[in-house]
Amino acid sequence: MDKFIIEGGKPLRGSLEVGGAKNCALPVLFATLLAPKKHVVGNVPRLHDMESTLKMLVHFGCSVDQRHSRAYGSDWIVDAAGLNTSEAPYDLVRKMRASFLSLGPLLVRRGQARVSLPGGCAIGARPVDLHLMALEKLGARIEQKSGYVEAKLPQGRDRLKGTTVIFPLVSVGATENLVMAATLAEGTTVIENAAKEPEIRDLCESLISMGARIQGHGSSKILVEGVPELGAMNFRIPPDRIEAATYLIGAQLTGGDVTVKGANAEDLGVVLDYLEQTGAKVTRSAEGVRVESSPVVKPVDVVTAPFPGFPTDVQAQWMALMTIADGDSVVTETIFENRFMHVPELRRMGAQLDVVGSSVRIKGRPRCLEGAPVMATDLRASACLILAGLGAKGETSVKRIYHLDRGYESMENKLQSLGAQVERSADT
Ligand code: EPZ
Repeated sequence: MDKFIIEGGKPLRGSLEVGGAKNCALPVLFATLLAPKKHVVGNVPRLHDMESTLKMLVHFGCSVDQRHSRAYGSDWIVDAAGLNTSEAPYDLVRKMRASFLSLGPLLVRRGQARVSLPGGCAIGARPVDLHLMALEKLGARIEQKSGYVEAKLPQGRDRLKGTTVIFPLVSVGATENLVMAATLAEGTTVIENAAKEPEIRDLCESLISMGARIQGHGSSKILVEGVPELGAMNFRIPPDRIEAATYLIGAQLTGGDVTVKGANAEDLGVVLDYLEQTGAKVTRSAEGVRVESSPVVKPVDVVTAPFPGFPTDVQAQWMALMTIADGDSVVTETIFENRFMHVPELRRMGAQLDVVGSSVRIKGRPRCLEGAPVMATDLRASACLILAGLGAKGETSVKRIYHLDRGYESMENKLQSLGAQVERSADT
């Protein structure tokens, strides 16, 4: 297992390219299963989660050609004509729970699907009841047996049937599984209380490139008019708003000045507004987003919420910033039930944090962080601890960097290009 060794105290200065969005690439790559064609997916980030997705697509019988023509990211040609199974096995799904997004595509392409239940993860139970409710509304017959979901088309029919589906709570994954299945259903599906995350908007654009008929994506009401078949996808993965947010928060935390080229200010929305409230100067342009740090970081409370609210995937990184703010703040997590595992690790670095229910009260003190050995517990906690290490006095070692590698491409190289002193080493 690898670790990062960080010598803190150096401001991040310069510019970097943001990569393709992990949480867009995942559903988009599973959407290629919907048509037996050669699909082109550009700007796929080189991440461990993408390696897991590759294994899954190959398991399904697809052939995948990856072209690395740039320093970061790659273009994938996915030939889904070879799809020859309807089963997503436990030993693959357990390694990446987003594989559950193969359920909708397999069901409507193969007429049936047997997908392992993904189980929980470090940050929460991660139920899939809304995915199953939505597909049953479209007529799917669903059973759960020995840790698997078994789904079949309606008795005597060769397609699902479009209808209205109202989600009782916003779910990114359930919206994605439903939209993908609805593209090949008979008739129109109306989705109410759909997730509005940019990744939903972008997944729908990739489906439209295949000939799907979708409207309202990016809003809470999505209309999908089913078609008998889809064609080849031709889509470029848009920039990763969470990766961009991570580096921009790092600029303010380290007293630096960073431009994230390719970042979409619209998709970063409230995060940029909150960075401005801490005192940073934020410049939005066609080239990307620039954050120039302020001498003092003002404390700003956040409450995570579905888009366009403050993203839960930026909560841990924001907490790192608030630990060195000049005053007290409160960070409240409303999406997942166990997403504070970075708190004890930040305490080891000198942060003053009190967990009260689903909130953390932070006593911010400038320059309070001291380097220490800490352990990553999940993807965004890893990013939080690295940011804290960059802003701490002395040396920080962040163990179990495999968590980070799931969602950040070559973070050590990108940070080094911004002047950080960070090295990856084997954690013997
Ligand atoms: C996606 O997870 C992202 N993952 C997560 O990013 C992100 O944190 C999350 O959306 C929220 O924005 C991918 O896109 C691969 P949800 P997802 O369904 O789809 C409950 C990262 O760090 N729920 O929107 O699993 C659920 O328990 C990862 O990149 C049900 O109750 O999230 C949670 O409380 C972490 N039943 C809430 O909804 C269901 O059937 C939101 O979950 C589904 C979800």
